[in-house]
Amino acid sequence: MIQVYWKNATADVVGADDGVTAADLDAVSPKVEAALDTVCRQADAGELGYVKLPRRTDCRDRVRRLVEAHRPGTTDLVVLGIGGSALGNIALQAALNPATYNLLDQAARGGPRLFVLDNVDPALVADVMDYLGDRLETTLFNVISKSGETAETASQFMIFRQMLRKGLGDEYARHIVATTDAARGTLHTIATAEGYDMLEVPGDVGGRFSVLSEVGLFSAAMCGIDIDALLGGAAQMADRCRQADWRSNPACVLAAVKYLMMTAKGKPIHVMMPYSNRLYSLADWYRQLWAESLGKANDRSGREVFVGPTPVKALGATDQHSQVQLYREGPNDKLTVFVSVAAHPADVDIPKAFPDVPGLSYLGGATLGELLAAELAATEYVLAQARRPSVTIRFDAISPAAVGEFLFLYEFATSLMGELLDINAYDQPAVELGKKATFGLLGREGYQDVGEEVRAFAATDERYLV
Ligand code: PA5
Repeated sequence: MIQVYWKNATADVVGADDGVTAADLDAVSPKVEAALDTVCRQADAGELGYVKLPRRTDCRDRVRRLVEAHRPGTTDLVVLGIGGSALGNIALQAALNPATYNLLDQAARGGPRLFVLDNVDPALVADVMDYLGDRLETTLFNVISKSGETAETASQFMIFRQMLRKGLGDEYARHIVATTDAARGTLHTIATAEGYDMLEVPGDVGGRFSVLSEVGLFSAAMCGIDIDALLGGAAQMADRCRQADWRSNPACVLAAVKYLMMTAKGKPIHVMMPYSNRLYSLADWYRQLWAESLGKANDRSGREVFVGPTPVKALGATDQHSQVQLYREGPNDKLTVFVSVAAHPADVDIPKAFPDVPGLSYLGGATLGELLAAELAATEYVLAQARRPSVTIRFDAISPAAVGEFLFLYEFATSLMGELLDINAYDQPAVELGKKATFGLLGREGYQDVGEEVRAFAATDERYLV
C-alpha cells in the first residue's frame, strides 16, 4: 500500500510563506471539490479511458493469450517505442524485477531479457543489433505506437523488420507483436497485412496514460511481473481517488498541495526523489506525465496562460551529494516529493568491521535499508529547516500492487491538476509540432513547408560559431 504524507509541506513545518496554511486549504477547497466532481463525472461518462483500465479484463486477456504463446520460446524481448509507449514499460521493469534481471540465466529469469529502445541514438540501436545478430530466432519485437507513425519508432521498426526478414525469411512476421490503435493507422494497416500478432492501444487512452493498458502490460507479463496484482493495486487506488471528502483523498491532497505550491507559494519546480533505485524510473514516467499534460500555452477558453510545473527527477541518497545543496540553499522555488520504501525487496547488513574506529563504528550492525531511511529523514529535516516544503509518498514495499497504486494516483492527480489549472491535460500540441517538423526535415509528403522553415532556421550562422 502507498500513502501520501504531507506534513512537511505545511506552514506548521516550513512557515506560512512557503507552506500550506489552514486558510490556503479552505480557500482552495471549493476548487478541489469541483475538480474532483468534474473528473469523476468525466470518468463515469466514459470520457477518461485510463480510469477504466484497472478493471478492464479484455486487455489483460489479450495480453495473457499472447504471453502464453510467446514466452516459452523467447529469450529476448525488444520493445520499440518512445514517450508514453516506452516509459511505463521501463518503469515497471525497473521497479519489479532485479537490477541484474537481464544478466540472470533463463531459468532464473523465467522470461526473456528485456530491452526498451526509446531512442534513435544510432550507437544504441547498433549495439542492440549486434547483440541480437545470432539470436533472432528467439527474439520477439514489440513495436508500440498509438499513432503508428512516430518517426523514432517507425524507423526502428523498419530496421528490425528488415533484419528479421534477412535472418528468418518468411518466418519474420511471427517475431513481431504490434501494439497500436485497434482500428486504424499505418502500423495497424501494416500489421494486419503482414499478419503480426496485435495488441491494442485503447483509442480513448493517451500515450502517457497508457501504462496500465496492453502497452505496459505485455512486456511486464512477459518478464514475469504479476499484472493482476498491478491492476488490483491500481483499482484500489481508483476507489481511494473517488473519496468525496477530498482531505482524505490522496490524489486530491497531492493535487491541492502541488497546485498551491505553484500558484501561491512560488514553487513552480516539482522534484520527485525516490529513495530507491528500483523506483527511480517512476520519476521518468512522472516527468512525462506531468510535463506533457500540464505544460500548456492556453487555458480552455483559449486565453494565453503559459502554465505548468517543471518536473525534475532526483535519486536518494545519490543526489544528496549532488542536488540537495541547491535544493536547500538555492532559490526556494521547489516542492520535493520524496518516495520512500519501508521494506525494500532485499536488505544488506553492514558488518561490524571497525568497532574501534569512531568514524565508522556507528555504521556496523545497521542495514543498508536503515541507512537509506536515515538519509531520507535527514534530507526531509534539512530541507524543512530551510523552509523548503516536501511531501513523501510512502511505499510499504515495492510490490506490483503498490506500483499500480502509484501509477493510478499520479494519473488521477494529473487530471485534477488539469481541472485546477483549467487546461486540457490530454493533448500535446507541442509534441505534435515537433513530430511535424521532423517529418518536414526528412522530406515527408505534405510537410514540405514546415521542413523548409526548419531547414532555414537550422542553417548554421558562422558568426555565432566560436
Ligand atoms: O503521451 C503522448 O501522447 C506521447 O508522448 C506519445 O506517447 C509519444 O509521442 C509516442 O507516440 P506514439 O505512441 O503515437 O508513437
